[in-house]
Amino acid sequence: MMEQDIEVPGMKSRLAAAAPWWQPTNGSLLAIRGGRPLVGTYPISGAKNAVLPLMVSALLTPHLVTLRNVPANLDVAVLAALLQRLGCGLHWSTRGGDLALTLSADRVHPAGIDADLVARMRASVLLLGALLARCGEARLPMPGGDAIGLRAIDFHIAGLRAMGATVTQEGGLISATAPAGLRGADILLPQPSVGATENLLLAAVLANGTTTIRNAAREPEIADLATCLVAMGARITGLGTHRLTVTGGTALAGAVHHVMPDRIELGTLACAAAMTDGELRLPHGRLDLLGAAADSFAGAGIDLHETDGGLVARRAAGGLRGIDITTQPFPGFATDLQAPTMALLTVAAGASAISESIFEQRFRHVDELRKMGADIAVHGRTARVRGVDRLRGAAVTCTDVRAAAALVLGGLAAAGETVLDGLDHLDRGYDRMTEKLAACGAAIVRSDRP
Ligand code: UD1
Repeated sequence: MMEQDIEVPGMKSRLAAAAPWWQPTNGSLLAIRGGRPLVGTYPISGAKNAVLPLMVSALLTPHLVTLRNVPANLDVAVLAALLQRLGCGLHWSTRGGDLALTLSADRVHPAGIDADLVARMRASVLLLGALLARCGEARLPMPGGDAIGLRAIDFHIAGLRAMGATVTQEGGLISATAPAGLRGADILLPQPSVGATENLLLAAVLANGTTTIRNAAREPEIADLATCLVAMGARITGLGTHRLTVTGGTALAGAVHHVMPDRIELGTLACAAAMTDGELRLPHGRLDLLGAAADSFAGAGIDLHETDGGLVARRAAGGLRGIDITTQPFPGFATDLQAPTMALLTVAAGASAISESIFEQRFRHVDELRKMGADIAVHGRTARVRGVDRLRGAAVTCTDVRAAAALVLGGLAAAGETVLDGLDHLDRGYDRMTEKLAACGAAIVRSDRP
């Protein structure tokens, strides 16, 4: 399913009402003059994939939930607008550059779901578990998001059914009810799905009895969500493991939670430092957040080391070298780092093989990187990359959020000018990337279409 464009009638005003910091008119093209080393401090924002489920968790309690270190990106603005339509109060504040959001869901109207907004983001599926748990009913259009594969939600639905919900799917609409409330269940996920683990966790904390989620995903964003739920009074054990046990049924209080750093932004900027032969300080970065990517990056010639308060990234003395990677659930190599790493490997010495095992269609950046002179051949779910000396600037289109980041990296390293369009994809996942890169020396400008 292709993501809908931002130009839905009334969309901009709805986003502006829910997230006043969002600037919808800050340019539809991004021009990058490549070849400058990135040097300086690149502030790593709160994690997009952590803040979205955390925002949804506020639906589980009538008390205030405050999230600090919220990334200012389009997905956050869209989810804020969705929550507002469901009756959730939103209060934004900034302190020393830190964006904080206080959510108050003392009354929730489950019928308020906005189809246009749901179509914009995959994470809206998380509303299903939270609304069912809080209101006993939920109706949701099939969620949208990046067009990177089939992205079924059968694990979510099977899990909610095991907890006693009646779920039907008709005409692109999912309807779920649990008039007598949800009950604890023993759930085995066929695959460690991030979204299904989060959805079922959100549902389980208010369900009666004990829920066990086996083969749960172990992505750090799930432990971040569970940590916030525990602070709200939920009883969850097994954080960071494949088996989460939730003793549900307790009314939840409010909480204040600091969103974890964005490990995908971290890995992406480590690639940027190495590709441009610069040196970036990445505050709050930690090697353990990168999982297997930390070793892969070292193998590819990224010198990445921990210092007080963060990571420092630069190109290793031996230069960049080709490596083989296969994306896997955490702690394996993150699929969200596949596209940025491919950009890195297009200018590494020798050959690389990149296998995508999580999503079926996550090579849409390949054609765009080829326009920049990259030598990449795709065979099924493996891309073979032969490093070239230099990419060259080109006009390219962002096709999904991580593809957008890969094209920015290509542009930063390329000779000449690269112009990106499709910037909604970049904005969905990255907080003020243009400004942060410019502050580290990139020649990067957003402008409106002539
Ligand atoms: C989340 C992340 C996304 C990341 C992905 C994998 C968010 C908002 N998004 O997406 O950035 O790329 O994890 O790390 O956190 N699947 C099914 N049925 C289901 C659920 C999933 O078949 O019911 C399949 C998917 O099609 C996919 C695989 O399982 O092939 C993994 O998907 P999942 O972990 O659920 O990804 P998301 O939660 O959508």
